[in-house]
Amino acid sequence: KARTVLLATEKAFAADAVAKIQAAFDESKYTMKKLENYKSKDELLAAVADVDAMIIRSDIVDAAVLEKAAKLKIVVRAGAGYDNIDLKACEAKSITAMNTPGQNANAVAELVFGMMLTSARNNYDGTSGFELVGRSIAFYGYGAVARAVGKLAAGFGMVLYAYDPYIPKDAIKKMGAEPVDTVADLFKHQYVSLHVPLTPETKESINKELLLKMPKGGTLINTARMEVVHEGQMLEVLKERPDFCYLCDVGFKAQEEAKAIVGDKYMKRVIFTKKKMGAQTIEANNNAGIAAANQIVGFFEKGETKFSLKA
Ligand code: 3PG
Repeated sequence: KARTVLLATEKAFAADAVAKIQAAFDESKYTMKKLENYKSKDELLAAVADVDAMIIRSDIVDAAVLEKAAKLKIVVRAGAGYDNIDLKACEAKSITAMNTPGQNANAVAELVFGMMLTSARNNYDGTSGFELVGRSIAFYGYGAVARAVGKLAAGFGMVLYAYDPYIPKDAIKKMGAEPVDTVADLFKHQYVSLHVPLTPETKESINKELLLKMPKGGTLINTARMEVVHEGQMLEVLKERPDFCYLCDVGFKAQEEAKAIVGDKYMKRVIFTKKKMGAQTIEANNNAGIAAANQIVGFFEKGETKFSLKA
């Protein structure tokens, strides 16, 4: 049966990746509609009306979108985090939702190191910085992205720690990090890198109490989700601790306030990327986009439901 798939990406994939996604659908004789770099939700609401499937990134798929999507059977988030999909609303309409875990992990890991080096070398301003070798990095969450960062960290000669309530401690150990008992224990280390999903439990969980436990030069790296960090308390920590750094790829509402606090130490004490850049590489776009296309074809042609998400 001929199917129509909508590629809805507010932040577009690289053109080469889009061509590869198109080729995957051409092979199965599926029609691909593109809605890239769209500016309003109305455009998305109009585009979903006649499609059987959707590929999205951080695009919001809520009850209003699903309401308009009369034929929709499956939505695949080309990426890891799926806090942008209303899974309960999907379930209520018997729409399958999937993600593509691991596909963009290396891209995020490389960005983490880019930010760490920029900060450690004082944004290359000619003053003396420091080396990463021998320093400790602690991961909150030890899924695909954290492990990819861990692999690079090991290469840099760093010492790795991790807390993940969903992975047994001996498994964490086997994957190269020393397991710690609590979230608070992570904050004994110079670098803490966040790799947890946004859930009611993690929302604003990274607060002043935890951040003030960090040793001198304490640096929080956030390539997870903006809302995991308590913004107001982050600003207080930046004010109270002139040594503390926040390297952030996932947005910060009070960016200007944070920049004003750190002054000419912007890009040293605080880094904010434009948009969310972690997964924005040709490789990650290819990996996640093609995986999403294959999952859609597999779902319709073979009834495959691996990577289905539960509400
Ligand atoms: C993810 O969860 O996969 C990342 O946050 C990437 O999001 P993006 O596709 O919007 O860049």
